[in-house]
Amino acid sequence: MAQRPKIGQRAYHLLLAQGEIPRYVLLPGDPGRVPLIAKHWDEAREVARNREFVTYVGRYKGVSIGATSTGIGSGSTAIAVEELLYAGADTFIRVGTTGALWRHIKLGDLIIGAAAVRWDGASRWYAPPEYPAVAHWVVVNALVKAAESLGVRHHVGIVASTDSFYVGQERPGHGGFLPPWAKGLIEALRGLRVLSFEMESATIFTLASIYGARAGGVYAVIANRETDEFAPEVGVEEAIKVANEAVKILAEYDSKADLHT
Ligand code: URA
Repeated sequence: MAQRPKIGQRAYHLLLAQGEIPRYVLLPGDPGRVPLIAKHWDEAREVARNREFVTYVGRYKGVSIGATSTGIGSGSTAIAVEELLYAGADTFIRVGTTGALWRHIKLGDLIIGAAAVRWDGASRWYAPPEYPAVAHWVVVNALVKAAESLGVRHHVGIVASTDSFYVGQERPGHGGFLPPWAKGLIEALRGLRVLSFEMESATIFTLASIYGARAGGVYAVIANRETDEFAPEVGVEEAIKVANEAVKILAEYDSKADLHT
């Protein structure tokens, strides 16, 4: 079998060695959000930085935790998940932003992803299209409990992950370009009760399921595609707080491992 490329004993892209990462890892897309996540921790240090991948490790309320940026879209996200598994992670929480498809989902609300429509590219290499991109129920449960305990307005359901922010989310491309197959996407997804668009969860959920790991996602609603509103940072701090708190809840749950499988 072909060897996986490494630099010494470090994974080629993330530059992480085996055992260097705790089991719980938060996954923002943006490298700039990693320190924003870590500022809530009791202690934090940067362990690796390469391209779009920035990794911090530390402790949150006594629990060992990590955060790695994935970059945007499925290609770099699949690399991040692969190499984090190598480095020791087994539970992933995507902390991202999303564009809601429904009027009642307000800017600044949070969405907790229970599953994702697999309109990404990378997960197609791993499993047939019928295979579900489903979040792990334990992670969804922890995210819901965290949002409830912090009093943050949240919605739980299916998101649609696309590798294309513009045309693949029915936004006109350059010069108004919008091919026939991208017209009506929003209406079609509403008909399927999908809550929102984002770009990484289908990849994370699919790979986590295949590898026997666990994943979930919490997203700040920064766009509403029904009302055409957009506010780039609203809700991001709340999503970060909910994701960090969910790790604490998961650690408590996992410490009673004899009660569940
Ligand atoms: N992220 C997306 O993928 N789409 C949006 O509309 C907002 C955030």
